[in-house]
Amino acid sequence: MSKPKVFVTRAIPEKGFEVVRDFCDVDLWPEELPPSRDELIRHVRGVDGLLCLLTEKIDGEVMDEAGSQLKVISNHAVGFDNIDVPAATARKIPVGNTPGVLTDATADFAFALMMAVARRIPEAARYVHDGKWKTWGPMLLLGVDLKGATLGLVGFGRIGKAVARRAAGFEMRVIYYDPNEKQPDPSIKATPVDFETLLEEADFISLHTPLTPDTRHLIDSQALSKMKPNAVLVNTSRGPVVDPEALYEALKEKRIFGAGLDVTEPEPIAMNSPLLTLDNVLIVPHVASASTTSRGMMSWMAAQNLVAGLKGERLPNCVNQQVYK
Ligand code: GLV
Repeated sequence: MSKPKVFVTRAIPEKGFEVVRDFCDVDLWPEELPPSRDELIRHVRGVDGLLCLLTEKIDGEVMDEAGSQLKVISNHAVGFDNIDVPAATARKIPVGNTPGVLTDATADFAFALMMAVARRIPEAARYVHDGKWKTWGPMLLLGVDLKGATLGLVGFGRIGKAVARRAAGFEMRVIYYDPNEKQPDPSIKATPVDFETLLEEADFISLHTPLTPDTRHLIDSQALSKMKPNAVLVNTSRGPVVDPEALYEALKEKRIFGAGLDVTEPEPIAMNSPLLTLDNVLIVPHVASASTTSRGMMSWMAAQNLVAGLKGERLPNCVNQQVYK
C-alpha cells in the first residue's frame, strides 16, 4: 500500500522526523529559509498531511490548494497564530500543536532574559570586547535586583506558571494578569491583578500570552507609560504583542530600564530597526524553546499529531476539537 504524502516545510530534529519518514512519503523543504508563498502552494498540492512551522502562514487558500484529501495540519510549535484555525475547522481539518514540552525551556529563557537585562550582561560583554575595561569601578554598569522585586506575568498558562515557580527561588513577589485563567494553582504563590495594576506595580513584566486580536499591541505607548522607570520588559510570546515603535520611544527616553525580546515584529527584525541602536535592549532570534530536549520533543509531538491525523485518529494535541463533533 502506498504511504500518505506529506509536505514538511523545514528540516526538523531526527526524533520526530524518523517517525514521519517511517510512515509517510515525505517531501521535505531542504532550505534554511522557509518556502515562499508560491513554493508552499506548489508543494502542498495533493498532500494528505502538512507539517509546518510558525514561519508559514497557513490560510484557507493554502488548504484549498492542497485539496480535499488534506487530512491534517501539524504545527511544530505551541503557538498557532500562523494558522487560520477557523478555516481549517470549516474544512474539518484537525490542527495539531506541541504544548507542554517547551514550557521549561521557555520559562528558563524568560528568566535568562530578565537577568541579562537587569544586570546589563550584553552591555558588559560589549564593554570588554570594545577594550573599555580599565579597572574595577564602584559604579560601573550598575543594574537592578531580582530579589524582592515584583514580577508581573501577562498570561498565566503553563509557561507563565513555570516562570512564577522560578521566581519563588529569587524571593520575588509574583502578580499576574490573565482574563482566561480558570483554575488558580494553589501550589504557586501569585496574586491575580488587573492589567493596569500589573503595569503600575511590576518591576519585571514577562509576556506569556498567545497572539490574538485582543493581545496585538497590548503593550503600546499607553501601557508603557504606566510602567515604573526601573521596569524590565521581557517578551518570549509573540512579537506583535508589543508595539515596537512605542517600545523604542520608551527605551530611548529611559522611561523604563530595559527590554529583553526573544520575539519581534516583524521577524526577523529589520537591520535598520531603531531598536538595534539602543544599549538597553537585548534582542535574540526567537530561540526561547531552543534546547535540544525541547526541540526534539516538539518534533516528536508534531510527528505524532501528523501520523494520527493521517490514520484518521484523534490528534494527541488538537487545537480545534470541534472537528470531532
Ligand atoms: C514557539 O514560539 C512556539 O510557539 O512553539
